[in-house]
Amino acid sequence: MSFAELLASLPIPILQAPMAGATFDAMTVAVSQAGGLGNLAAAGVAPEEMQAAVDGVRAQTDAPFGVNLLMAPPLKPEPAELDAALARLAPWYAELGLPVPDHPNRFAYDFDAQLEALIAAAPPVASFSFSILTRAQVDAFHAKGAYVVGTANTVAEAIAWAEVGADGICAQGVEAGGHHAYFLDDIEASSIGTFALLATVTKAVDLPVIAAGGIMEGRGVAAALALGASAVQMGSAFLLAEEAIIGPTWSQALKDAPSDATRLTRAFSGRYARGLQNRFVRQMADVQEQVPAYPVQNRLTQAMRAAANKAGDPEMMSLWAGQAVKLAQPGKAGEMVTAWWAEAQDVAQALVERTSKRR
Ligand SMILES: Cc1cc2nc3c(=O)[nH]c(=O)nc-3n(C[C@H](O)[C@H](O)[C@H](O)COP(=O)(O)O)c2cc1C
Repeated sequence: MSFAELLASLPIPILQAPMAGATFDAMTVAVSQAGGLGNLAAAGVAPEEMQAAVDGVRAQTDAPFGVNLLMAPPLKPEPAELDAALARLAPWYAELGLPVPDHPNRFAYDFDAQLEALIAAAPPVASFSFSILTRAQVDAFHAKGAYVVGTANTVAEAIAWAEVGADGICAQGVEAGGHHAYFLDDIEASSIGTFALLATVTKAVDLPVIAAGGIMEGRGVAAALALGASAVQMGSAFLLAEEAIIGPTWSQALKDAPSDATRLTRAFSGRYARGLQNRFVRQMADVQEQVPAYPVQNRLTQAMRAAANKAGDPEMMSLWAGQAVKLAQPGKAGEMVTAWWAEAQDVAQALVERTSKRR
């Protein structure tokens, strides 16, 4: 079976976005069981725990699912760079009554080790963001019967993934919540709306394209399919689902947010990501280009974000969310997927009726 055939065989062409820090296996299983494709966010899974994490999903569903890794580069910053970054964060730590953290020994799990563990675990689908695999790495997944999906913010990135042998492209528009995948150009050149990106990527590569960014309901699903997407990937739409693990402060912030509240910021992690604007995002805006690159800054702000969450203070938390997050509704993830698909079918039917009358 090809990846296109796998997507076509899904009862519902909706992928649940892997959302590190916001979802884990309960949502993956719920969406796959409902007929969509759940994705396990495995960025925070240690290499030695990867097999158990993948087996954990397998044990709960016979349906296909995906596992996602973020490709963190193995950065080794100089002590002076860490001192400068920590000095910038010192007032924030002081406000929370915490000492500034020591220089960490490690900034993220070793990506190569995570990758090796994921290849061994052989999930049905493996997806990646922030960089690109080599052809040999893609081939290693294929040898285990796993499909590879590469995330792209630009046509050039989609072509690059096609050239290393990826089976599908996740085209992530600038509307998307969370981290953006860009790896060939800067954020400005890589900020393309989902409509424009989807229309151009589907022309440029001969692979199934999964549309992501700003899709919150059935009408968005129908629109993406009309533009040539083989399936959609929805993230923010699941943030208020029962299976989400975002906690009460983030969840309340989503409910309280004004409709145009999101910004792309580099301040929390050293890589541009979209979330609700809060005091940290606003006050760090002028220096965000100076903070160390991902995953270094992400690690340096980790204790701050965790303490703010514990204290119920949304102003120092990374409240990742997409541009259309105000449309997010509470519910059970499986039922949400089923309802969106029914709505998409109704929207498509209504569109056929509207357009055929004009012939
Ligand atoms: C809270 C949150 C966490 C995310 N974490 C990941 C992740 O771990 N890996 C990944 O590839 N994408 C991640 N994303 C991006 C999603 O895969 C997807 O591109 C995005 O949610 C689509 O836009 P939408 O939020 O408007 O639906 C995350 C998005 C959100 C909102």
